[in-house]
Amino acid sequence: MVKISPSLLSADFSCLKDSIEKIEGAEMLHLDVMDGHFVPNITFGPCVIKGIRNLTDMVFDAHLMISRPWEYVDDFVECGSDIITVHRESFTTIGSMENTLQAIKEAGARAGISINPGTPFEEVTDVLGYADLLLVMTVKPGFGGQSFMEEVVPKIKQASEYIRKNHPKIELSVDGGISPKTAPAVVRAGADILVAGSAIFKGDPAVNMLKLRRASEL
Ligand code: DX5
Ligand code: ZN
Repeated sequence: MVKISPSLLSADFSCLKDSIEKIEGAEMLHLDVMDGHFVPNITFGPCVIKGIRNLTDMVFDAHLMISRPWEYVDDFVECGSDIITVHRESFTTIGSMENTLQAIKEAGARAGISINPGTPFEEVTDVLGYADLLLVMTVKPGFGGQSFMEEVVPKIKQASEYIRKNHPKIELSVDGGISPKTAPAVVRAGADILVAGSAIFKGDPAVNMLKLRRASEL
């Protein structure tokens, strides 16, 4: 069964506790960390993650859309992130990405790799051996509520086929514009985890989660 990872970015920030209660039953919570440098938007960091950590047992997936993510590995582990996902585009060399993935694991978390819509899958094949999760972006990172980029679907399929064969323990997550309408193509292409922000938190999150689950059952 596909896992659902609601993105907190689209929740009501005046009552995060209520928002988290409304999505109980989701397997993961997706936490979009943005620094206003790697992406044009600024969101939240370790202190907010720490503040919500005790509200739920859900797996916390911190999606770091930041420059120099290697400087913050310990902070994101200490605040309670279970998975720390870093972007290929935050690194100038694949070697420095490999070091950071190793540092995440040594610090006690699972390591994720993310790629922007324009980044070929081949740019991360060499570091997949250090990863537990691959996050393929289907929007340009920075904001919730953008339209799903259908042209990325072949890359999801390519990534899925490659990791099934070579790194079967890696989970394939897809992020950006996921809704009951776009989810079937993504699941068919091989996604294990669907990240969804506006499609979950706009309206009734429990009902929306159910709709997304139904749409993902092919
Ligand atoms: C975008 C973020 C996404 C975002 C998804 O940069 O990484 O996780 O919250 O939001 P929706 O589902 O509304 O596209
Ligand atoms: Zn995200």
